[in-house]
Amino acid sequence: MFAPDFACSTVRLFLVCWFRHQVGQAAKCTTGDDAVMLQIQMNEGETSCIREPASRHLPDDLRGCTHPAPDFLKPGGQTRLVSNPLQPGCWEANSSCAPFTCSAAAACDASMAHNLKLWEPVQPGKLKALVFQYGKVASSALVTGFKLELRIAAAHAHQGEEARQWLRGQPTAIPVEQQGFALSKEWSLMPGDTCFIITAARSHINRDPSEYFETVLSTKHPYGYHPRGRRREHDTPPAAGEERWTRETVQQLGESNVSALLEDFHAQHPIVLEYYAKWFSKVFKPATGADILTGHFDLEKRHQRISTSRCTVLALRYEDSRHWEKILNEYFPGFRLPNANRGTQKWYEIPYQNFLKKLSYTQDELDKICQTETETHFYKSDPSSPCAQRA
Ligand SMILES: *[C@@H]1O[C@H](CO)[C@@H](O)[C@H](O)[C@H]1NC(C)=O
Ligand SMILES: *[C@@H]1O[C@H](CO)[C@@H](O)[C@H](O)[C@H]1NC(C)=O
Repeated sequence: MFAPDFACSTVRLFLVCWFRHQVGQAAKCTTGDDAVMLQIQMNEGETSCIREPASRHLPDDLRGCTHPAPDFLKPGGQTRLVSNPLQPGCWEANSSCAPFTCSAAAACDASMAHNLKLWEPVQPGKLKALVFQYGKVASSALVTGFKLELRIAAAHAHQGEEARQWLRGQPTAIPVEQQGFALSKEWSLMPGDTCFIITAARSHINRDPSEYFETVLSTKHPYGYHPRGRRREHDTPPAAGEERWTRETVQQLGESNVSALLEDFHAQHPIVLEYYAKWFSKVFKPATGADILTGHFDLEKRHQRISTSRCTVLALRYEDSRHWEKILNEYFPGFRLPNANRGTQKWYEIPYQNFLKKLSYTQDELDKICQTETETHFYKSDPSSPCAQRA
């Protein structure tokens, strides 16, 4: 038997939740500014969620499921999960709970409400957006803002080919975890659509250390290549008696020997810098047709707008992100950035902070940094940039 009423709350900040726990009753949860309405069908011994008819959109190209669900997303006992839960089309069309555990308590969970809104397939309108930039510039926040607030599934691309596919109206090869919820080709650019491309830059001075910690354990990234502490062009698996760094290694070094991390970063920095040095002319322009570098980044307006024959392109700077909401509202009324408080602390937070306290660049490194397209175009005329005083 069910109790007629209960109020639930979790430790999550901002969660206020009311839930009427009765057979056939609707559950209403308000989580901060998000609100979701779920129809909860209660039968003895089981709970299922039914997606409201208005949101039962299932794009044609997502009807077939091709990938099995990754283990970390397979909720225990969730038998109604059809296949790949990251593809909404692989959910049962009438279930609004998959891929998240469907229960009365889950309906009152802030992160579930958030995830449902993020992953829900919504019908595209005429406005399409591509968020296309190199990593570590808060592009996820932009994409999430588009989906949560404006119900626009912006595509989230880092590679030129992904941007080209989007512009041609094709399905994109963007990895699923990063697709920006533009899961269907419906969200690629079609004839008659209004096209926006948003890109962002971030000064190498702070971006590169951030990338270092994000990729330090990835054997596919120069910062993660073995062995450590000296320049290496590729990963070499550890020889007998050697070991790869692990989280524990990085955490220990971060507390007791941060200079080992600094040495490792400086050794690989030129390789990473070289890779991004001409990103706007070598990657962005060929893919989009937009030449950011011939225009002028407006320091006062904190963005640059240019037009291609097809699209409006907006270029932003990470360092101005607290102004992004205001800037983007001129183009997308109602746009809001997601609440930054959602971010959980990263495993490398302490080593990262210790690293930043000790980090300084050599003159030679600063010269190379200041010659990149990012710095010459977005920062050199900004008096607060260390590149402003350099030749
Ligand atoms: C949802 O759809 C499946 C078929 O895909 C059906 O078996 C099930 O009964 C439906 N559930 C509800 C609650 O309508
Ligand atoms: C710190 O790390 C460096 C480089 O790995 C190493 O040579 C040095 O011995 C370490 N120092 C201490 C105190 O562990």
